[in-house]
Amino acid sequence: MDKFKIQGGRRLEGTVQISGAKNAALPIMAAALLTSEKVQLENIPRVRDIITMAKLLAHMKAHVVAQDLPPSAMTIQTEQISHTEAPYELVKTMRASVLTLGPLVARFGYARVSLPGGCAIGARPIDLHIQALEKMGAKIAIEHGYVEARAERLRGAEIHFEKITVTGTENILMAAVLAEGETVLTNAAREPEVTDLAELLVKMGAKIEGAGTETIRVRGVEKLCGTSHRVIPDRIEAGTFLVAGAITGGEILLTSCEPKHLTAVIEKLTACGVEIRAEGEGELRVRVPGKLTAADVTTEEYPGFATDMQAQYMTLATQAQGTSVITETIFENRFMHASEMVRMGASIEVDGRKAVVHGPTPLSGTTIIASDLRASASLVLAGLVANNTTYVDRVYHIDRGYERIENKLRDLGAHIERL
Ligand code: EPZ
Repeated sequence: MDKFKIQGGRRLEGTVQISGAKNAALPIMAAALLTSEKVQLENIPRVRDIITMAKLLAHMKAHVVAQDLPPSAMTIQTEQISHTEAPYELVKTMRASVLTLGPLVARFGYARVSLPGGCAIGARPIDLHIQALEKMGAKIAIEHGYVEARAERLRGAEIHFEKITVTGTENILMAAVLAEGETVLTNAAREPEVTDLAELLVKMGAKIEGAGTETIRVRGVEKLCGTSHRVIPDRIEAGTFLVAGAITGGEILLTSCEPKHLTAVIEKLTACGVEIRAEGEGELRVRVPGKLTAADVTTEEYPGFATDMQAQYMTLATQAQGTSVITETIFENRFMHASEMVRMGASIEVDGRKAVVHGPTPLSGTTIIASDLRASASLVLAGLVANNTTYVDRVYHIDRGYERIENKLRDLGAHIERL
C-alpha cells in the first residue's frame, strides 16, 4: 500500500494548476447514460474515482475513451447497454456509483444498483434518492443489498428533499429530464457541481430552470442528444492549496480555478489573517503577511463553508493563534483526522459534532493513517508543517480525489515522495 514520506518545514512557493472537479465530473459521466449519442468531456481529473466510474460505465457496455494529456478529455457513448447494474464490487469502492440509478431507470426503465452502505464519515443513506424515484412512479425493491428500480416511463412529480442532498439532487435531476411532464425539486442542493451537471443536461436538450437555487424545475423531454462540455475546476483542491500556502508561510499562485465557488473559504481564511488576491482570469494568489489567527467555522451546504474543507481547515487551526471551534453539521463522523493530528502534537478536543482546536502548536512527524479522502489531505498538510519526517499511510484515499498531489506539492518546493 502506498504511503507518503514528507519532510516538513519547507515554505511553498510557485504556481499550481487546479484540475477539474471530481464531484462535478462523476455525475456528468453518469449523465452520458441518458443518450445514445456521444458525450465529449474535457477537464476530467485523473483520479481514482473517475477511473472507477469509467469502469462502471464500461461494465454496462458504454464505450469510454479517456485521454490523459491536456485537455484531459473523455468521450462516452452508450448506444446499447448490456447490464443496467452497478455491482457491489464497484459501488463499495465508490459511493458515487449510485449516480447511475437515476439515468438508468429514466432511459432504460430498469436499474439495479448495490446499496452503498456506511462509510468512514457517516451512515450516508440514500433514502431520499429512493423516495423521490418512488414519487416519480418507479417501483423500488430493496433485496440482497441491491436497490432495484423499474418504471416504464418516470412521471414528473413535486419532490421536496427533507434534507439537502448533493448526489440526491443530481440523481433526481437526471431522472427528471427524461420523465413525462414537469418535476419540481425543492430544497435542492445549490452546489456548483449541481449547476455544472444542469448545464451539461441543457446542452443535451433538457429543459431545466433554477439550477443553483433551491427550486429546480424540469420539463421532461422524449430524448436527449450528444454534446461537449468542460467540467468546472475543483474548488476543494483549490481550497486545499490555499491552506497549503497559508500554513507554510509561502506564496502560491493558483491557476485554472474558479474564485466565485470559493467565497466561503476565502472569507474564512481571510478572517484568519491569510491574504488571498484575485489576479488574472481564474487565478488566486495566497500568502500570509503576518501571523495566522484562530476563527470558528461551521460547515454548511453551499454557499456555506464546505464539509469537504473542514479537515484541511483543522490543520490550519493547529497553526493559528487562539482557539478555533469547528462545527461539522453535514456528516456525523467526520473528525477522524483529529486524533491523528493530536498524535502529532496538536491540541484538539472533540465533543460530538464540535472540535475545539487550541493553537498554535508545533507538530512533530510520525506515522499517521488516513481514514478518508479529505482527512488524508489534512494529514498531508500537517506533514508539510511538521518537524522531522511524517509518513502518511493509506494514501489510496487521497488518490481517489486529488490528481498527482505529491507532484503538485513537489513542484511548489515540498519534500514529499511516494513510497
Ligand atoms: C456529496 O456527497 C459529495 N460527493 C461529498 O464529497 C460531499 O462531502 C457531500 O456531497 C456534502 O457536500 C459527491 O459529490 C460525489 P449528501 P453526498 O447526500 O451527495 C444525508 C468528497 O470528499 N443524506 O449531500 O453523498 C447524508 O447522510 C466527498 O469528495 C440522507 O440522510 O452527500 C448527509 O448527512 C465525500 N439521506 C447529508 O444528507 C439521503 O438519501 C448530506 O449528504 C442522502 C443524504
